[in-house]
Amino acid sequence: DTKAITPPDIRLRKGQTPLVCLTAYTTPIAKLVDRHCDIVLVGDSVGMVLHGLPSTLGVTLDMMILHGKAVRRGLGRALLVVDMPFGSYEDGPEQAFRNAARLMAETGCAAVKLEGGESMAATIRFLTARGVPVMAHVGLTPQAVNTFGGYRVQGRGDDAERIRRDAGAVAEAGVFSVVLEKVPEPLARPISVEIAIPTIGIGASPACDGQVLVTDDMLGLFTSFRPKFVKRYAEFGDQAEAAIAAYANEVRERRFPAAEHVFADTFGGVGTSSV
Ligand code: KIV
Ligand code: NA
Repeated sequence: DTKAITPPDIRLRKGQTPLVCLTAYTTPIAKLVDRHCDIVLVGDSVGMVLHGLPSTLGVTLDMMILHGKAVRRGLGRALLVVDMPFGSYEDGPEQAFRNAARLMAETGCAAVKLEGGESMAATIRFLTARGVPVMAHVGLTPQAVNTFGGYRVQGRGDDAERIRRDAGAVAEAGVFSVVLEKVPEPLARPISVEIAIPTIGIGASPACDGQVLVTDDMLGLFTSFRPKFVKRYAEFGDQAEAAIAAYANEVRERRFPAAEHVFADTFGGVGTSSV
C-alpha cells in the first residue's frame, strides 16, 4: 500500500496491531524509516542528537522547519509529525496556531506534536478545530526538565493520578494519539485502556498501543547517555569510530589512497571526463 498514512488512520489503529514510530532528522534516515514505520517524528531531540545542545530547550522553530523539510523529501507512506519546540506554543492557542501553521505550510507535515496534558487542552481544541491534527506528549516531558529537576520516571505513587488526568484531558481535547514517556507499566496500562486514542510509548511498557524510539539511540549513534528504555539494535557509533580511525591510520601510513583510487593518466584536457 503506497497511500500516505493520515492522522485519522492512526486514530483508527486503536486496538489493532502496534503502531511503529521512529524519529528522523535527515532525508536518508527518513527514507529508511518510511519503509518500515507508520509514523516518522521530527523530534526536538534533534537539538541534543545532532546539534550538541544540553537539552531540547534551545531548539528553534527554524531548526524544526529545516529538519522537517529534509525529512519530508524522504517520505512516501509514513505520517510525518513535527515537534513544536519550547516557547513556540505555550503562550496560548493563537501563538500555537500561528507556529503550527508555519510548520505545516513549510514542511508539508500533516500533524504536530506538543508537550503537556490538562494545561494544553484548550490549545489542542483550538488547533484541531482549525485543521491542525495534534499528537500530545505526557509523562516525562523533556521541555519541562527544569521544572522536574531531571529526567526521572513520572507518575509514581500519588503522581499517577496527574498523568492519568493529563492523558484523559488531551484525548478529550481531540488529539489523534499521545506519546507516553517514562511512566511505570501499571500506569501506562490503565491509561491505554481508558482513552479512545492510541498511546505511543517510550519507556512506557508494551501496554501502549505503539512504540517510539529516537533512531540515533537505537542505532548506537547517540551515546552521550543511555536511558534504560533504549534498546540498541546496532552499534553504528562504534563502527563509525573504527572506520574513521582506520582512515586516519591509512592516510598517515600512505596506504590510502591506493592505486584503484588514483587518476594515473595524463592525456585528455578540459572537457574530457575521467572516472
Ligand atoms: O523529540 C523526540 O524525539 C520525542 C520522542 C522521543 C517522542 O519527542
Ligand atoms: Na520531543
